[in-house]
Amino acid sequence: MQDAPAEKFIIDGLGGKKTLSGSIRISGAKNAALKLMAASALFDGPITLTNVPKIEDVKRMEGILESSGAAVSFFGDNSLKIDPRKMRSGEMPEEISKRLRASIVATGPFLARFGSVSFPHPGGCVIGARPIDLFLLGFQKMGARVSVEKRGNKDAYVIRAGAGKLRGAEIFFKNQSVTATETFMMAAALAHGKTTIKNAAMEPEIAHLAEFLSRGGARIKGAGTTTIEVDGTGGEFLRAGGEPFAVMPDRIEAGSFLILGALAARELSITGCNPAHLESLIEILAEAGVQMKIGAAEITVRGKKIGIPKAYGAVSVKTHEYPGFPTDLQAPMVVFLTQAKGESTIFETIFEGRLSYAEQLSRMGASIEALDTHRVRVKGPSPLSGKILESPDLRAGLAFVIASIIAKGESVVHNVYNIDRGYEDLDGRLSKIGVSIRRVAA
Ligand code: EPZ
Repeated sequence: MQDAPAEKFIIDGLGGKKTLSGSIRISGAKNAALKLMAASALFDGPITLTNVPKIEDVKRMEGILESSGAAVSFFGDNSLKIDPRKMRSGEMPEEISKRLRASIVATGPFLARFGSVSFPHPGGCVIGARPIDLFLLGFQKMGARVSVEKRGNKDAYVIRAGAGKLRGAEIFFKNQSVTATETFMMAAALAHGKTTIKNAAMEPEIAHLAEFLSRGGARIKGAGTTTIEVDGTGGEFLRAGGEPFAVMPDRIEAGSFLILGALAARELSITGCNPAHLESLIEILAEAGVQMKIGAAEITVRGKKIGIPKAYGAVSVKTHEYPGFPTDLQAPMVVFLTQAKGESTIFETIFEGRLSYAEQLSRMGASIEALDTHRVRVKGPSPLSGKILESPDLRAGLAFVIASIIAKGESVVHNVYNIDRGYEDLDGRLSKIGVSIRRVAA
């Protein structure tokens, strides 16, 4: 699989002025779409998804499914049809899987379909150690054998279900893991017997995936809580042929644009989102003094505070599993806090190394002190000035775009490819609300 050409964004900052206005529409959620795509391997015929974001990570998942023999095609604006009937192998290609952490979720459905799966250690964003022990232990509990074998000249994990069949099991996760919860919900859907997943993650994408699987006949109870019970079909595929299934809106994208609106917009409406998925961010922003109007599928944020001239107030934030504050909004939140009056501490509890981007914000003029690998202290407000930045991962990449928009002068954000992994047509959509942003070859 070829990398996209190297590109950069050139952004003319607003220098603290709040001039953006209009509305910005939220795309389908990356972290929902990738799992729904992987789930296609559980079905007996073609499935259709709508509201699928056209992003690099979706292309990578397409590559994984196609290399297994599935027919995958986009049609219309954002609809995707996946026909699993010619899938023949659970061997996941090294070059794609290594670059997509979410490839790990395909191990569940592939193992359920083929009785075996092989894959390299999955890659993805560089945000600290990302182990796969929960997956290996869980598969063993379901009666599979795990080994490391040569595939070409590289090592790969090979998982083989006992006698080709997965059996139901009691699985307790020592950490709540989103992708492990999804993987085992999918593996268990076709298993023989009942599986109970305890200390399951509760992110909204999990209940969404369960809804999709249930429409095809999977028997799943408790998705969205910490205990999920799956009564396996005993090897029967799920039934395809239902109505197209619409991917839920991306709550991380919506939250990032909400922060952008608070910092840089006169008034900005974020449409096609689900505010119920953003409670913790909305609560924290309201505490900081951000004015928002929350509708059923829309949030309007007013950056200019009417009649109150002072800056937003500082708030300390700790990332947490859902419904707590999402780690994927931590970097945009740090940008927000550079503009809030006072001192705040940000505590990243989920991933190590996910604060290393902060050093680049300091170069822009932010006052950020690293306390340890999990915590930083921000003092604000600090005017930011445009700089040359390197986006380390997609979430910090969008945070840099937001910082560049509020800064004074021109910024260059390199590694746009990282941002394109998760956000469809970011520059096009930002231009429409008044951001001066250009994409050029790097
Ligand atoms: C998912 O990653 C998301 N990715 C991440 O989004 C998100 O940051 C993360 O959940 C937390 O919300 C996808 O859905 C594809 P975890 P995931 O397993 O599932 C530990 C983005 O930018 N753990 O929930 O990989 C792990 O180290 C990305 O879109 C184990 O110990 O995260 C972490 O501390 C980045 N052993 C904790 O669990 C394991 O086998 C939670 O991670 C697996 C995980």
